[in-house]
Amino acid sequence: MSPVSSVPKADKSSMSSQFTPDVIRHQESKDTESPQSIISLSNFCAWYGTFQALHDLNLEIPGKRVTAFIGPSGCGKSTLLKWINRMNDVVPGARAAGSLRLPDIEILAKSTDVVSLRRRIGIVFQKPNPFPKSIYDNIAFGPRLHFAGMTKSDLNDLVEWALKKAALWGEVKDRLHQSALGLSGGQQQRLCIARAIAVGPEILLMDEPCSALDPASTARIEDLIYELREQYTIVIVTHNMHQAARCSDRTAFFFEGKIIEEGSTEQVFTRPAKQQTEDYVSGKFG
Ligand SMILES: Nc1ncnc2c1ncn2[C@@H]1O[C@H](COP(=O)(O)OP(=O)(O)O)[C@@H](O)[C@H]1O
Ligand SMILES: [Mg+2]
Repeated sequence: MSPVSSVPKADKSSMSSQFTPDVIRHQESKDTESPQSIISLSNFCAWYGTFQALHDLNLEIPGKRVTAFIGPSGCGKSTLLKWINRMNDVVPGARAAGSLRLPDIEILAKSTDVVSLRRRIGIVFQKPNPFPKSIYDNIAFGPRLHFAGMTKSDLNDLVEWALKKAALWGEVKDRLHQSALGLSGGQQQRLCIARAIAVGPEILLMDEPCSALDPASTARIEDLIYELREQYTIVIVTHNMHQAARCSDRTAFFFEGKIIEEGSTEQVFTRPAKQQTEDYVSGKFG
């Protein structure tokens, strides 16, 4: 069975009261189509030294959808994100086996050009990490690196486009040359999203992007994620069950380095197939 095939709509009577259909927005439209898989994991394993952090993962991550990784701390969610854009290359003792593919390349292959891989796969972290530069230079940094020879006017347009896309333009257009470090936490996180999309990625990885933000900033980022999924494939790690339910199409539940269950967010939250998933989404542990 294709892991990205659509599932029948849940019978309301079987819904857990916590995750009623109105908080699960994804079912509005997209799950009726069968999107192509963009990231394919097969028997993917990862180690730090002798410790095996991920065991035989098999997963198809669909394009132009939001996939949420949920699960208790330490179950390997960040490790997987870091392998997807090869950040673990620089971690001593970190190694991986199996396959982690984009449609056209094996991410793990030695021949994979990590710089161009990271242009295709952006990452946003828990704590916003703007460069200690101006707002403008934060966004222009990647394009200057990857698209040498851009004219000043094209670069200006690109900076404006990325800031608009990240719903930040209105708040910063009059202070583009001031330090990004003067922005609020929520603005800094939107700046990091703008910086990531300025180089034209296909995939955005977000590792608990809202956990350092207040509820209003969190809501803005969730709205943004929901809008960006029209153009990007998004993988979001979150500890917030409501966030996963609100902004993802697919959910994978991780436990002790394994994927216990993966399916449409609606199914995983309302009709989980495994007892461990049910216990986790209903808050019995975590
Ligand atoms: N750099 C590292 N060196 C050694 N062990 C690590 C490293 N990073 C993570 N781990 C271990 O790998 C496991 C998975 O961690 P992580 O991927 O960060 O989990 P999660 O993001 O789900 O909280 C944990 O047991 C963690 O202690
Ligand atoms: Mg983590």
